[in-house]
Amino acid sequence: MKAGIVGATGYGGIELFRLLTSHSQIDTLTLYSSSQAGEYFEDIYNQLHVEGKHQLKDLNPEAMKKDLDVIFLATPAGVSSNLTPKLVGGHAKVIDLSGDLRLKDPNTYEKWYKKEPAPESLLDQTTYGLPEWNKEAIEKASVIANPGCYPTAALLGLGPVVEGQLANPASIVVDAKSGVSGAGKNPNPITHFAHTQENFQIYKVNKHQHIPEVEQQLKQWNPEAKPITFSTHLVPMTRGIMATIYLSLNEDFSTQDLLDRYTSYYESHPFVRVREEGEFPCTKDVYGSNYCDIGLTVDERTRRVTIVSVIDNLMKGAASQAVQNMNLLFGYEEREGLPLLPTYP
Ligand SMILES: NC(=O)c1ccc[n+]([C@@H]2O[C@H](COP(=O)([O-])OP(=O)(O)OC[C@H]3O[C@@H](n4cnc5c(N)ncnc54)[C@H](OP(=O)(O)O)[C@@H]3O)[C@@H](O)[C@H]2O)c1
Repeated sequence: MKAGIVGATGYGGIELFRLLTSHSQIDTLTLYSSSQAGEYFEDIYNQLHVEGKHQLKDLNPEAMKKDLDVIFLATPAGVSSNLTPKLVGGHAKVIDLSGDLRLKDPNTYEKWYKKEPAPESLLDQTTYGLPEWNKEAIEKASVIANPGCYPTAALLGLGPVVEGQLANPASIVVDAKSGVSGAGKNPNPITHFAHTQENFQIYKVNKHQHIPEVEQQLKQWNPEAKPITFSTHLVPMTRGIMATIYLSLNEDFSTQDLLDRYTSYYESHPFVRVREEGEFPCTKDVYGSNYCDIGLTVDERTRRVTIVSVIDNLMKGAASQAVQNMNLLFGYEEREGLPLLPTYP
């Protein structure tokens, strides 16, 4: 199979390169760059040189949609809304890692991203690629919106309890923390080492663009879903997201009752691991892997549940989830090309 990566020189693109070069079904991999065409990828990232070199190409949508089987877009918001319409309608399937195609309502996109939305016809034909909840639709799709990193952690943690309508939908609070690679490779004053090291900060309070993405999926699970409180923090580590979720239960469930529901829902999903009672995951438990690890406990005094969901933002939050989606799109084994064990320590 022939795959292409647009934005290959960015953090998400590099992870896609790492995964796709060892994927058994990929025969050729073409890398595209808007700023460094003509240069060799392995000259920029020497540590990724094994054999042969990949010359970065200029974008040529007409040729790409004809010659490639799958195109990954690992580009900043505002790029794929313009580029994807030129890539669809040919032979290639498209998997977009940005937020451009995730929100079904163009006005909501414009409000939260402050950018021109993608054409509505494209949004209509795009499938939200959260494989644990949307597998059948993904298998039939031609354009996939790969979920955001925070939404992946939050939604996998919330799914069983919200879809099962076990909680008060107005009570959801998501307190999320991310490593600095979540902001991409270009440094800014907030992600600068001198600012982030030994520091812990909240950002985009009530304004994070992932809020409507989470709410959109919650509404699909439960039409009674209400706006949520969703806070995002930057922590001084390179990778990883922890979403700590609080909500009020409708009934007197015990911790074990809820764990049984989570375990049974995710039993057939190889990339979600539910911890036993009293155990909680940390971000290093999923480092470099496609896993989402979940732990939870019910506070019997308050009837609130605390759910902890961790992922690697560049993997399950971006590149490896995109490869998982590719596997489903093309009928390959879901785990193909994805490392089964995390890197530790
Ligand atoms: N970082 C994460 O944890 C994470 C997680 C989930 C989703 N995402 C999303 O994935 C996308 C990529 O994120 P990232 O972290 O990889 O960002 P990044 O490190 O900033 O890389 C983005 C790449 O896009 C390319 N690019 C920039 N402007 C372009 C344009 N106008 N046309 C075509 N290509 C352009 C650049 O490569 P060239 O200059 O070589 O073209 C750049 O290397 C973003 O939309 C982000 O929100 C990121």
